[in-house]
Amino acid sequence: MRLLNGNSIPIMFIILFSLLNHLTPATAASFRRERAIHFDSFVDNDSNRSSLTFMGGSSRIQFGALQLTPDTMNEAMVDIHYNKSGRIMFNRPFRLWSSNDTDTVASFTSFFVINIFRGDNWTAGHGLAFLIAPNASTMPDSSYGRWLGLTNASTDGSRDNQIVAIEFDTLRQPDLDPDGNHIGLDINSVDSKKVASLNDYNITLSPEEGTNYSVWVDYNGTSKVMEVYMARQGGNRPSNPILNDTIDLKQYVKQDSFFGFTGSTGYREIELNCVLQWTLDIDIIPRPRGEDNRLRIGLAIGVPLGTITILVVVIVCIVKYRRGRRNGEGDDRFGKLRWLPGMPRELKYRELKKATNNFDESMKLGEGGFGIVYKGLLNLHENSSNQSQVAVKKFLRDSIKGKDEFMAELAIIHRLRHKNLVRLVGWCYEKGKLLLVYDFMPNGSLDGHLYGNSSHGVLNWSHRYKILTGIASALHYLHNEYDQKVVHRDLKPSNILLDVDYNARLGDFGLARALENERHSYSELGLAGVPGTMGYVAPECFHTGKATTESDVFGFGAVVLEVVCGKHPGIKISHQQDLYTLVDWVWMLHRERRLVEAVDEHLNGQFDIDETRRLLLLGLACSHPIASERPQTQDIFQIMNGTMPVPVVPPFKPVFQWPSGPPSSINSIENSLSSLVFSSQDSVGMATTSQKNSTRL
Ligand SMILES: *[C@@H]1O[C@H](CO)[C@@H](O)[C@H](O)[C@H]1NC(C)=O
Ligand SMILES: *[C@@H]1O[C@H](CO)[C@@H](O)[C@H](O)[C@H]1NC(C)=O
Ligand SMILES: *[C@@H]1O[C@H](CO)[C@@H](O)[C@H](O)[C@H]1NC(C)=O
Ligand SMILES: *[C@@H]1O[C@H](CO)[C@@H](O)[C@H](O)[C@H]1NC(C)=O
Ligand SMILES: *[C@@H]1O[C@H](CO)[C@@H](O)[C@H](O)[C@H]1NC(C)=O
Ligand SMILES: *[C@@H]1O[C@H](CO)[C@@H](O)[C@H](O)[C@H]1NC(C)=O
Ligand SMILES: *[C@@H]1O[C@H](CO)[C@@H](O)[C@H](O)[C@H]1NC(C)=O
Ligand SMILES: *[C@@H]1O[C@H](CO)[C@@H](O)[C@H](O)[C@H]1NC(C)=O
Ligand SMILES: *[C@@H]1O[C@H](CO)[C@@H](O)[C@H](O)[C@H]1NC(C)=O
Ligand SMILES: *[C@@H]1O[C@H](CO)[C@@H](O)[C@H](O)[C@H]1NC(C)=O
Ligand SMILES: *[C@@H]1O[C@H](CO)[C@@H](O)[C@H](O)[C@H]1NC(C)=O
Repeated sequence: MRLLNGNSIPIMFIILFSLLNHLTPATAASFRRERAIHFDSFVDNDSNRSSLTFMGGSSRIQFGALQLTPDTMNEAMVDIHYNKSGRIMFNRPFRLWSSNDTDTVASFTSFFVINIFRGDNWTAGHGLAFLIAPNASTMPDSSYGRWLGLTNASTDGSRDNQIVAIEFDTLRQPDLDPDGNHIGLDINSVDSKKVASLNDYNITLSPEEGTNYSVWVDYNGTSKVMEVYMARQGGNRPSNPILNDTIDLKQYVKQDSFFGFTGSTGYREIELNCVLQWTLDIDIIPRPRGEDNRLRIGLAIGVPLGTITILVVVIVCIVKYRRGRRNGEGDDRFGKLRWLPGMPRELKYRELKKATNNFDESMKLGEGGFGIVYKGLLNLHENSSNQSQVAVKKFLRDSIKGKDEFMAELAIIHRLRHKNLVRLVGWCYEKGKLLLVYDFMPNGSLDGHLYGNSSHGVLNWSHRYKILTGIASALHYLHNEYDQKVVHRDLKPSNILLDVDYNARLGDFGLARALENERHSYSELGLAGVPGTMGYVAPECFHTGKATTESDVFGFGAVVLEVVCGKHPGIKISHQQDLYTLVDWVWMLHRERRLVEAVDEHLNGQFDIDETRRLLLLGLACSHPIASERPQTQDIFQIMNGTMPVPVVPPFKPVFQWPSGPPSSINSIENSLSSLVFSSQDSVGMATTSQKNSTRL
């Protein structure tokens, strides 16, 4: 134990981090393959729409399909088909080769079903294409007709396009095409590098009766061979490809590229360009350290047993040391590091077991992703006989990452003090069991108060207003007043607790960080549509996987709308035969100048019209799909007080664009852990800063 003097703990952390530095992902040629895109069918609701970007004005999900160009068979409306182009791209880019490996490109297989339909007296034109593009946000102007939504008269052939596509062409261009029924491999141009007529295969892309065709596009990233197979829907994949060619994607497309479809019609050659099913299986190429913070965090947390072992060793040493010290052999340098001022109390497992009546079911307050929360009775002050109520969060034993989560939460929480944050009062790590002890919140969490069936009765307007002001204040503190920016990341009513006076207390901020690992990335949340979180996660998070102050503001906006309207952001609200999400519904009411109708009917009209209006507009402004357009936390507080005007909210919800701009801050567990190293030398100063902050608000 002599090894453990005041300097050796930081050294251990340094060793730990240099260890992490060496954990760069290996760039072996064998990558994990993943079904990254999976649409058995397309449904026109948020869960499908939110993973796609629609371009070209008339592209949409309709009749169970992606409609790249308008879909109507109404002869009276035939003009709406003329000169149209549209793209629909999957929102998330895929890395196609590793920065290190010189040769290997990601292999993939994309399967999709297309239907190109034409009316009785229509001449079919022009076609659709499976597309790999550098972004999911732009389609060239005037890309209708022969350009298939891929290029236009001025951009066709330019290397800057960085696109590769498989075209399904239904109209012959005399200068380019062999016939009006072929597929082709297009590189930056509609003048295909290689074409294959379908006439030889008894396939007609746009038959009079409309036919579904299954298509498989295979790319072997080692041999660089691209193959396209086609069959009528229901038929097996043929043994021979219709088109094959060698193409090194690395030479043409961006390293992080998007997948999707594009299509066009002309004048007067028109057709319906539909995609009915789509999957993409692709090799997942890890991003190197430094390039993607999320992965770094993933590595730092998701991690290697080695790290956990070291952490455990550190904890065990500290605990042992403390025991030793209690026995009288003190060491001042270590003493300073040991538990920083403001550090929560260390408790015995025995004590907590007793406090919670042996973790009895009847003491259970709730259950979260990390563990179960019990109510308990504890003596918080050593020399007092008064017992206080506490909430004890017991981490699930089989949670492998438990120890890291624990460390992370402790490191962060011990320095955060604010009247609208839940206070951590103690911790315990014994026999492999992790427990955190918080102030008990007699009124439970906000979600238990919002809906009509709540046993607490209807939450009145002044309480709602106070709660939202409290959350704004806590966010402001986390984002701006604390010396190191802290992003909450998981703002939602179940994380907002209420004290006896219905003051909001934000909880779970440290835990949210610990969640930040690869397996729980935002993009996976997006794919799986995890219930309970959807609606609170900002759209850009699905691209970046990073939480920012702006994404917290988005979550705050969702909570504001939920509290004012008494409706969950995920529910569907029916209005004139359309289904709306909460945000879209409020936005629609705003457009129609009927905003006040959005207010929770359970309030029976007992509310302040100006306040609800202000909050609803603020909620919409915070729900802006473009991160940089959302209000800042500094302003939110003033807007709520009425000392600053509400931002102007456009009548229509703007469309999500990606990329939209650099995020302003990143949330990294590494920061917090490395600050633990620094703060060990300067802990007194830090703690005073946070004390000061807490008294200011
Ligand atoms: C989407 O719509 C389908 C059918 O209309 C419905 O079954 C499904 O629950 C909806 N999903 C979501 C997330 O709204
Ligand atoms: C599309 O929506 C359907 C119905 O809600 C859902 O089952 C499916 O998982 C969604 N797919 C994606 C990729 O969002
Ligand atoms: C479609 O585009 C062609 C050529 O660009 C033009 O001649 C024609 O007038 C356009 N038709 C319509 C209906 O926009
Ligand atoms: C990847 O390349 C970077 C610099 O190009 C290098 O520092 C790093 O060690 C390489 N990683 C591997 C695993 O080869
Ligand atoms: C098809 O015929 C209808 C009436 O016969 C006509 O109005 C329409 O313009 C025609 N459509 C095309 C694409 O020529
Ligand atoms: C082609 O698209 C680009 C980018 O959208 C645009 O700037 C250009 O004007 C377009 N060219 C033509 C001929 O429309
Ligand atoms: C998207 O890619 C196109 C083609 O490379 C480029 O012209 C355009 O500027 C890109 N848009 C964005 C927003 O990056
Ligand atoms: C071509 O396909 C049709 C069905 O669309 C089928 O009836 C016909 O027998 C096929 N011809 C050949 C030569 O396979
Ligand atoms: C094409 O597929 C869709 C949905 O998968 C189905 O509803 C439709 O009947 C199919 N059409 C034909 C002609 O098989
Ligand atoms: C890709 O090509 C390489 C080299 O030709 C070959 O060894 C490998 O089996 C191919 N992979 C697949 C999935 O066909
Ligand atoms: C394409 O397939 C044909 C026939 O299977 C084969 O002879 C040819 O070498 C292949 N071409 C490429 C570029 O793989």
